[in-house]
Order: sequence, then structure tokens, then C-alpha cells
Amino acid sequence: MSSYKFEDRRRLVSYFKNEAKREINYSDDVRKTSNNSINPIVKLIMEAVSQDSIKHSKIYETMSLIIENPQLITEKESEMVLDDMKRHIENEKESIEELNNLLKDKAIQDDKPLKFLIEMLLRDEKLHHAMLSDLYNILIKNITLTERDIWDQIWKDSMYHGTPGG
Ligand SMILES: [Fe+2]
Ligand SMILES: [Fe+2]
Repeated sequence: MSSYKFEDRRRLVSYFKNEAKREINYSDDVRKTSNNSINPIVKLIMEAVSQDSIKHSKIYETMSLIIENPQLITEKESEMVLDDMKRHIENEKESIEELNNLLKDKAIQDDKPLKFLIEMLLRDEKLHHAMLSDLYNILIKNITLTERDIWDQIWKDSMYHGTPGG
């Protein structure tokens, strides 16, 4: 990250900030379509795309933030957040199981709109579960690394124990 040339960083930051604005404008546009629509499924999908576009805008904002502040990437996450994440991962897993059971229901299999919406949920929950699990594993690895660094430090300190500046 920090090996980026200054011009490359400036170019990417301005590109990402521009895309963030574009996604927000698009989100407003799609929300209008949602508000104008009558069919509940059309309304829902338009609203979902609108909310996803806000999310996309935040992804672009975050990319420009970490290019401008590369040190933030190595910021260590708190125990509390990691514990919460573990609970969320379990929650997502339960949702996936519930939805898979629903899809086995004969009444739902015969109802195309319900099946469509349940499959939409299932795709999202699988994505949430995968994203949270991947991120959790990366964060845990970082902690292990940091703990090793701490042990290295303790070992070094004990070796130089009692010497000036040690
Ligand atoms: Fe988008
Ligand atoms: Fe979810």
C-alpha cells in the first residue's frame, strides 16, 4: 500500500471518491423508481438495489480512506468485536439452515414468487456468512502474529534485563 507512487494514490483516491458519489446518485434514482412502483416485488428489488448502491458507495469511500491512511489496515480489532463476530457468523449459519428447510417445503416449491424471494435471501445469507468467516479468520491470524511479536519482545526484554536502556 505505502509503496504506491504519490500520483497513483492521488489518481485512485479521486477516482474512488467520484465513484462513491455516482453510487449515491444512482441509489437516489433507483429509490425513486421503488417509490413509484406498485408491484411489491418490483418495489422490493428496486429498494434492495438502492440500498446496495449505498453500500457500494461506502466500499469506494473505504478504499479511498485506506489509500490515504495505509496505517489503518494494521489497526488491531478489539476482543469484543471479535466475540460479536463469532455470534454473527453463527446467526448467519442458522439463517442459511432455516432457508434451506423452507426451500424443501412443497408449498413453497409450488409458489414461484416465494421461491424467488427465499433464494434471494439465501444468496445474501451465504455471502454474509462467507464474508464474516473470511474476515474473522484474517483477524484471528493477525492477533496470533501480534501475540508472537509480544512474546518476541518479552524474550528480548528478558535477555537485556538489567542492562541500560533494555
Ligand atoms: Fe453499484
Ligand atoms: Fe445475514
